[in-house]
Amino acid sequence: MSAAGSRAEFAELQERLLGELTGTVLEIGAGRGRSLPLYPREVRWLGLEPDPQRRAQLTRIAARHGRHEPVLAGVAERIPLPDASVDAVVGRTVLCSVADQAAVLAEVRRVLRPGGVYVFFEHVAAPPGSWLRRLQQLFAPLSRRLYHGCDPTRETWRSLETADFSHLDLRWYAAVRWDLDARYIGGTAHR
Ligand SMILES: C[S@@+](CC[C@H](N)C(=O)[O-])C[C@H]1O[C@@H](n2cnc3c(N)ncnc32)[C@H](O)[C@@H]1O
Repeated sequence: MSAAGSRAEFAELQERLLGELTGTVLEIGAGRGRSLPLYPREVRWLGLEPDPQRRAQLTRIAARHGRHEPVLAGVAERIPLPDASVDAVVGRTVLCSVADQAAVLAEVRRVLRPGGVYVFFEHVAAPPGSWLRRLQQLFAPLSRRLYHGCDPTRETWRSLETADFSHLDLRWYAAVRWDLDARYIGGTAHR
């Protein structure tokens, strides 16, 4: 693990990476559309969200940002899009919640065009044996029930490292506050 960047640097990374996207962008697990203000006007934004209530809310929020295409229903383990159909896939705090990270990453790769980019921002497990990891383990069952399956103990970087992407640029970040999600990763991977 390289030296962890700050929370402010993590926010800057999100602004920079999302602000650089072009073409058709699919955001998986888009939730309430918190990333929407960060995309360039010119991108074609597609959202995927399995939760019906959130999807309805997201549809309204996306429209306020000038994004009028219907939000896709379904899970990222089975993305309802053809092969090689998007230029970029974005996932922000979603791999903590999915049922099968390997299946999601295979689907992300499938829908990306050759050379397309997957942009990720995720909170991840604290180091094994740390007080924070123990706290995360205690809280995990409740978190999974309360927060759409969100498991704070996932070592998501391992799934990214073993997924079939051509290049992985993965950076570490630490929140400067008392927070169960105190460690984050962010970066890009290419098909
Ligand atoms: C912690 S929220 C993050 C929402 C949004 N990405 C953000 O940054 O604010 C996780 C989202 O992932 C969605 N989700 C859960 N399981 C999923 C799956 N298998 N495929 C796609 N999205 C999923 C949830 O419904 C929820 O909206």
